[in-house]
Order: sequence, then structure tokens, then C-alpha cells
Amino acid sequence: MDLSSRYGPWALIAGGSQGIGLAFAQQLAAAGLNLVLLARREEPLAQARQSLSENYPIEVRTLAIDLTEPTLAAQVSELVHALDVGLLIYNAGAVHGACEFLDTPLAAKEKLIALNCTGPVVLTQLLGPRMRQRGSGGILLVSSMSGLTGGAYVASYAATKAFDIVLAEGLWAELLPHGVDVLGLIAGATDTPAMRDSGVDFSQNSAMSADQVAREGLAQLRHGPVHVAGDNNRAAAAIMRAENRRQSVALMSAGAAHLYKLPLPDLPG
Ligand SMILES: NC(=O)c1ccc[n+]([C@@H]2O[C@H](COP(=O)([O-])OP(=O)(O)OC[C@H]3O[C@@H](n4cnc5c(N)ncnc54)[C@H](OP(=O)(O)O)[C@@H]3O)[C@@H](O)[C@H]2O)c1
Repeated sequence: MDLSSRYGPWALIAGGSQGIGLAFAQQLAAAGLNLVLLARREEPLAQARQSLSENYPIEVRTLAIDLTEPTLAAQVSELVHALDVGLLIYNAGAVHGACEFLDTPLAAKEKLIALNCTGPVVLTQLLGPRMRQRGSGGILLVSSMSGLTGGAYVASYAATKAFDIVLAEGLWAELLPHGVDVLGLIAGATDTPAMRDSGVDFSQNSAMSADQVAREGLAQLRHGPVHVAGDNNRAAAAIMRAENRRQSVALMSAGAAHLYKLPLPDLPG
């Protein structure tokens, strides 16, 4: 598929300086798309810009911004108003930690909602109309296996990631007739700097690479509304989507307990 003619000439990646977002950036750069990368820290953004500009004949613009800021729409609008952005990838969203709901400060939950729910809504509202008007484009929202079922220790995170899946499904139904592809990309454990920083030990857990997840995402963008990345994750997703919600919640809870070395919750079968 020619990514450039379908989704170019510009792609915007929210959370594009590291991990899965950087992998998307590299693959899109290789396909010839110019890039707008958003992330909080200047240094990884500058590194990404330098290496992408050195290795590919494309233009890269960056903006250091916290996607949870209420000024998100205004700042991004100023940056992209003269650019033809045909692809939005909303990637940021991983660092949530694992803790019981009532032991997490309200402000942390509000941040998660701002990052995983408000952010995708704001950027879709900003960039979507132009794609619909020109009759082509793509919107890819990165979600998580956690979004398939609730679970102990990740209640808020899981709920925000479920929002992304359902939002992608609705957008797909509305925008496909206008030539705009929408995909909710469900990632499972993926070896990224953010996950390593959050204390996950990947030597004990099988994880996909960021490159693999991004590659599947781009390959499946035309085949929305939802795709689960990786064979193992697809097998687990079938159980998580099962009618027996006690079973799926227990599975997710056990997974979070294992990943973050927390006590296994004692749940009825
Ligand atoms: N890694 C996994 O195991 C895993 C599993 C399931 C789902 N996912 C999903 O995959 C996506 C990517 O995850 P990831 O592991 O690559 O890490 P991530 O922390 O979500 O994404 C890393 C990128 O997002 C930026 N970012 C994070 N928070 C931001 C904020 N508030 N404002 C602006 N930029 C922000 C980071 O740069 P700065 O830190 O400089 O801001 C970096 O560029 C997420 O949506 C996550 O939920 C990941």
C-alpha cells in the first residue's frame, strides 16, 4: 500500500519521540511522509527529529507539549494550520503504574482521562474535518489489551483505553464512507522505554517490539475498526471478550498482578 499517497503528505504523531510512537515515525518516514511529532520532553524529540531528518528525505517538525494541557487544541492548531495532515496517530498513554483505585490520587486519574480520552477527541476534532473534506486520510488510536476488560490495579487505565476502542469504532463507521480509515490498535505488552521506566521487567515476560506493533498498525489501518497486534495477544483477546466477565476480569487482574509483582486478588470464579 502506498502510505504516502493515501495518508500524506503530513502525519501527526501524538507521543512520537519514543517507543511505539517513534517506531511509527520511522516507518512513515521510510514511506516518505513528513512528520509532526508531539511529546513532553525536548531532548528525545530533538533526537528523533535529527535521526529522522538525517536518514530520510522528509521534513520533521516537533512540539514539546503535554497532551493533557487545556491549550492542546490551540497550540497544535497553530503548528499545523498550513500543513496538509492526512494521518493522525494518537499513541501516548502508557505510563499508568498499577495501584488500587482508591489508593490513587484523583488528580492522577484525571490526568489519565485527559491523556487517553480528551486528547484523542481534541486532535480528531482538529484534524478530522480536513481529512473528511479532502476524501482521504487516516486516524489511528493506540489502545491496549487492558481496554478489553476491567481489572484490579488498572481500573482507570483500562476504562480510558476502552474509551479509545469504542471511539475508534464509531469514528470508523462515520468516516469510512468519506475515504478516511480509522483503526483502534490494541497493543499488548510491548518493550518500550516508558514501560521499562514504569518498573516492568521484560526478561520475565514475552513482549512485542515497538517496531512490530507499529508495522501491524500501519498494515491494518485500512482494515478497521479494530486490530489486536500479535498472535498471542489475539488469542488472549478472545478470552477477554468472552461472555464470562468474571473470568475475563480475573485474567486481567492476574496479568496486572504478575506484571507489577503485586498480590493476586482473591476473586470468586
Ligand atoms: N508498552 C506497552 O507494553 C503497552 C501495552 C499496551 C498498550 N500500550 C499503548 O501503546 C501506546 C504507546 O506506549 P509506549 O509504551 O510507547 O509509551 P508512552 O509513554 O505511551 O508513549 C511514549 C511517547 O508518548 C509521549 N508521551 C507520554 N505521555 C505524554 C504526555 N502526557 N504528553 C505528551 N506526550 C506524552 C512520550 O514522550 P514524553 O515522555 O517525552 O512525553 C513518548 O514520545 C500507549 O497508548 C499505550 O497505552 C503500550
